[in-house]
Amino acid sequence: MANVAVIGAQWGDEGKGKVVDWLASRADIVVRFQGGHNAGHTLVVGDQTYKLSLLPSGVVRGKLGIIGNGVVLDPEALLSEIGKVTAQGLKVSPKNLRIAENVPLILPLHPALDKAREAARGGDKIGTTGRGIGPAYEDKVGRRSIRLCDLAEPTTLSKKLDELLLHHNSLLKGLGAPLFEKQALLEQLLGWAPKLLPYAEAAWERLETARHAGERVLFEGAQAVMLDVDHGTYPYVTSSNTVAGNAAAGAGIGPDVVGMVLGIAKAYSTRVGSGPFPTELTDEIGRGLGERGREFGTVTGRPRRCGWFDACLVRQAVKIGGIHGLALTKLDVLDGLTELKINTGYRIGGQTFRRLPSAFEAQAAAEPIYETLEGWTTSTRGARSYAELPAAAVKYVRRIEELVEAPVVLLSTSPDRDDTITLRDPFAG
Ligand code: GDP
Ligand code: IMO
Ligand code: MG
Repeated sequence: MANVAVIGAQWGDEGKGKVVDWLASRADIVVRFQGGHNAGHTLVVGDQTYKLSLLPSGVVRGKLGIIGNGVVLDPEALLSEIGKVTAQGLKVSPKNLRIAENVPLILPLHPALDKAREAARGGDKIGTTGRGIGPAYEDKVGRRSIRLCDLAEPTTLSKKLDELLLHHNSLLKGLGAPLFEKQALLEQLLGWAPKLLPYAEAAWERLETARHAGERVLFEGAQAVMLDVDHGTYPYVTSSNTVAGNAAAGAGIGPDVVGMVLGIAKAYSTRVGSGPFPTELTDEIGRGLGERGREFGTVTGRPRRCGWFDACLVRQAVKIGGIHGLALTKLDVLDGLTELKINTGYRIGGQTFRRLPSAFEAQAAAEPIYETLEGWTTSTRGARSYAELPAAAVKYVRRIEELVEAPVVLLSTSPDRDDTITLRDPFAG
């Protein structure tokens, strides 16, 4: 039986949490393989709403969750999230949560640098979540990271802190921000050790054993292809690879283990933070989508920018992300619109493109080439079968499939986990 990887196909917040939660009932293990607590995944189960940032969404279903080495882990954020979900009645312990021992840690100096740099950028800011994600990944690639396994070795910690502080304090000083002291950081790290080390293990080995035992693994992506550090709207991106190819490196398994790649896309588009957004709507229609879709960032509470579905961009995400099938979410948010538009390409300086070019000015100048479709006035909210959908909604979904060159295998019609239409079982491959 195939494994499944879930990735975002737009700019994030497509409903990955809901879909992962729904699929987790049939998985044995759920693995996060990139990103950090910049992610905000909302799961609605009856009258309970869980907002997860670091914990793999499978914990809500009582499945084993693994935080892979490709994640950047903020110990304070993790411990506080465990506290929150415990208060909601879930149990999180080393029995159902394992963390790759080689995961790099986010320390307080990372959000400090993230925020100081954003402030220095002024009007050109990226609009990061301010969680220190970028600086933490820079340290990983710069071979300066303190990793979870280092918490067991005080001498290593002390040496690594010297190098880390030399780097960070020089930058912070240049930016006019407060500096960090070694002793306080060392004490903080040693304080985390007994709380975090019981979760640490060689996650790759656990996954290898699971593979031999025929267990089903669900890889839970965060962010989305258009926020990928290589393939997204650079530099307005996050600092990790969000494509399915990274599930292998970020979990410690071979690429063939990843299995079916399910891309999640909203039936329209949203984006939080700065950067090009060709189909953005700044009018009443955009505001209406934001209101009906409750488009406010899970992590920062910022209103999300809204726009028409960009089939050209999602097609690009399908190709780059290795997406085999799409889960289309929030179809219900389009209820009541008599006319819908889908973007099929871009006009840039008199030329037409069937992809978003990489250069910044070209991206900013990209004008959508719209196709207009009939909308529907009846409600799709809560629909659980294709038969319940109005004909215009079915036509809209079919047109999206054609344009993005991928089948829609799941349709989501409300935040509730059960309001999902299955057209093909992702675990069937
Ligand atoms: P993620 O980051 O991709 O997991 O998505 P978020 O949780 O940040 O944002 C998606 C939001 O849409 C959440 O508030 C979900 O509860 C909600 N949602 C998911 N699917 C649907 C849907 O089909 N219809 C509606 N109306 N809301 C949905
Ligand atoms: P989920 O998993 C939407 C955006 C930020 C900013 C850019 C860089 O919930 O879909 P970062 O803090 O990562 O350095 O910020 O990326 N961003 C997200 N937008 N959903 C997310 O995660 C995001 N994670 C980061 O708004 O524009
Ligand atoms: Mg989110």
